[in-house]
Amino acid sequence: MTITNDIKYIGVNDHDVDLFEGQYDVPLGMAYNSYVILDDKIAVFDTVDIHFGEEWLSNLEAALNGKTPDYLIVQHMEPDHSANIKTFVDKYPQAEIVGNAKTFQMMDQFFSFEGETNRKEVKNGETLSLGKHELTFVFAPMVHWPEVMVTYDSTDKVLFSADAFGKFGANDVEDPEGWACEARRYYFGIVGKFGPQAQKLLKAAADLDIQIICPLHGPVLSENLEYYLNIYNTWSSYEPEDEGVLIAYTSVYGNTKKAVEILAQKLEEKGCPKVAVCDLARDDWAENVEDAFRYSKMVLATTTYNADIFPFMREFLDHLKERSYKNRTIGLIENGTWAPTAAKTMMKILEEFKGLTFIDTTVTIRSAVSEENIAALDQMADELCAK
Ligand code: FEO
Repeated sequence: MTITNDIKYIGVNDHDVDLFEGQYDVPLGMAYNSYVILDDKIAVFDTVDIHFGEEWLSNLEAALNGKTPDYLIVQHMEPDHSANIKTFVDKYPQAEIVGNAKTFQMMDQFFSFEGETNRKEVKNGETLSLGKHELTFVFAPMVHWPEVMVTYDSTDKVLFSADAFGKFGANDVEDPEGWACEARRYYFGIVGKFGPQAQKLLKAAADLDIQIICPLHGPVLSENLEYYLNIYNTWSSYEPEDEGVLIAYTSVYGNTKKAVEILAQKLEEKGCPKVAVCDLARDDWAENVEDAFRYSKMVLATTTYNADIFPFMREFLDHLKERSYKNRTIGLIENGTWAPTAAKTMMKILEEFKGLTFIDTTVTIRSAVSEENIAALDQMADELCAK
């Protein structure tokens, strides 16, 4: 695939991965992107997952058309991109590996090379000329590992953005939900904890004239870049993307679920712009996390369990805490037959989050939803719908 006259796509699609990074369900598969710039000097950007070494090398060979590469630029050492570095070095021992001090430290932890390897260590802001193309390396630590750097090609105005602007899903299948859904799930799952670092990268990118973004996952972005930059700014600044309420619940026998359904219906009747509901025991955990960040308000509904809260709710709150969930409005629903304490427990956990506002009404169900509960849910819906 040709991206510009000199830049070719040489990545691969993975439809066999069961869990990406060991934990993310990827029903549309995954793409491991790699690129090559053909100039006086030839630079390859990153390798691919371990299972696709042969296919990647064959894509590279086809793009090279008999030439040999001069550089392998390693922007990220996570094995979905770095696993074939040794394969590359074995095949093209004369090529220089370009990375920073942290890149090489990690490379020596992942690989045992026979003999010396050709290495070019770069500093933040350093440039590399390929002839016509001038590359600038911009360090982007913790987007998503500490060694990450992105690369700007000022000639074709391309940002090679590493994990940033990536998404779940292979590139050879159409995503029926468009770019944002799986990009959001990917961002909050994988990079969500590192909002300030992503903001720093966006600030550096704001000074560049970018026409094309080449991420390490998902499609190459070449149109309407303002949209992608803006949505990344919203996500990484922890601002809600949409006005709406996520109701995240667990339910053992269906009584808490019934309260959730009543609340969802009331919210819709009262004109809440968007109501999303997730069953924390059954729905995809990364989708639930994504929705929590997407909407401005969230209601947590769970049972008291072993004098604590139901395990799926605890796990959900752990995911949110890890990712610095903040700046949202929260309501609580608890259920308990003899000693309901779930709301108190959730509140204690949430006290450690920043910028949360709690609505006045907390609903306590004792076993099954009562008439008083329905009235309280109505009150809760009013408070959630208030501006
Ligand atoms: Fe796609 Fe952080 O690796």
